Amino acid sequence: MSSKFPDHFLWGGAVAANQVEGAYQTDGKGLSTSDLQPQGIFGAVTPRVDGDSGIKDVAIDFYHRYPQDIALFAEMGFKCLRTSIAWTRIFPQGDEETPNEAGLAFYDRLFDEMAKYGIQPLITLSHYEMPYGLAKKYGGWGNRKTIGFFERYARTVFERYKHKVKHWLTFNEINMSLHAPFTGVGLPEGSSKSEIYQAIHHQLVASAKAVKACHEIVPEGKIGNMLLGGILYPLSCRPEDLLETQRQNRDWLFFGDVQARGGYPAYMKRYFRENGIQVEITAEDQQALRETIDFISFSYYMSGCVTTDEAQNETARANILNMVPNPHLASSEWGWQIDPIGLRYLLNVLYDRYQKPLFIVENGLGAKDRIEADGSINDDYRINYLNDHLVQVAEAIDDGVEVMGYTSWGPIDLVSASKAEMSKRYGFIYVDRDDAGNGSLERRRKKSFYWYRDVIQSNGNSLKDQG
Ligand code: BG6
Repeated sequence: MSSKFPDHFLWGGAVAANQVEGAYQTDGKGLSTSDLQPQGIFGAVTPRVDGDSGIKDVAIDFYHRYPQDIALFAEMGFKCLRTSIAWTRIFPQGDEETPNEAGLAFYDRLFDEMAKYGIQPLITLSHYEMPYGLAKKYGGWGNRKTIGFFERYARTVFERYKHKVKHWLTFNEINMSLHAPFTGVGLPEGSSKSEIYQAIHHQLVASAKAVKACHEIVPEGKIGNMLLGGILYPLSCRPEDLLETQRQNRDWLFFGDVQARGGYPAYMKRYFRENGIQVEITAEDQQALRETIDFISFSYYMSGCVTTDEAQNETARANILNMVPNPHLASSEWGWQIDPIGLRYLLNVLYDRYQKPLFIVENGLGAKDRIEADGSINDDYRINYLNDHLVQVAEAIDDGVEVMGYTSWGPIDLVSASKAEMSKRYGFIYVDRDDAGNGSLERRRKKSFYWYRDVIQSNGNSLKDQG
């Protein structure tokens, strides 16, 4: 059988600087907003004192162990590795005139190591962090000046790595700022909707400026956005539920609409008016927004439901995004509902809407793993999850959707974003570290390691139950 996945499909994995690197003050790195959230992106913002040890301070020590980790990714046959640059390694406080050479040199070493094995980097400019200096001194993305600081940073790394990195992403899960404003836009708890949307607007302008800079600087460079693809279904076929679902899907599609279509969609006018939201959008901003992305990237872990029935809404609060559970789906140990068909649906929705190539840059199952007496880790649950999702990716490709690649989340165990846990593992590679930070950091191949290697080697032909 010939594969549904195109030749040159970018198979790989995705990590983020603040969840793997550690070395949070090494070689001149400044504190990032992530360093102030030792309990994760929904945790309290705590001032750091020297000697404090949050789990992310060491994380999985990728900063020092990357050669060994890249070799393991290469053993699985990775064509691509998504990671982020820690902005604070390059501009420690965010507002410096000149970059930190030691930080730039680290990413040179990392990209050179990947090149040895023919692994292409896919680089996120900002993954859930920004220099804390900018949040403290300028009020983060609430301040227009941050656009200029970001543009300087983006231009610096495009210039430096233009011959090494061809695929870039601007802001990780840019729509997450609506749920976690400090993480997304460096605003304090309790910020008003107007303040949040103003900060988001600045970030969208900065994203468009980075797109322009990439097009100017990186020969054959391609740059995408990154959305949290939290696709929602109506819980019932009541027309009111359907309409509310459309409205809530627009909460996140709005970001893609601006980034892919080059301006604010019509429906936002009414949304802003009815919610008393004031956003200053200058003519210059509108001009900047016209520079659109080359491809759409997104994360997909689960779908959710929407209802206008208040009683049912009340029961949904446990879910991080307040999504109402779907009675037809099972959940992970962390309550994330498992819906492979949702991925095919989402791919079609995005392709119908934007007609741009799509890149699935996160997908995976966070689960607790057990090491058997013989040292093996038999993570069939993870294999099944990924297999079923990839089968749906193949279906979407058959539907005519243009998919550039797939990078599973956390190919090596890392610190989880929402609660900064090690025990929520996504990896094909196990890392010996627990939630309290104990462990040797030793790496170990899981059963899924060999499974993914076979999937890549066969370009998806080894997947089970393909139609
Ligand atoms: C995405 C983020 O939201 O989901 C990642 O881009 C994150 O940073 C991933 O790790 C999984 O979430 P968690 O909370 O299980 O780590």
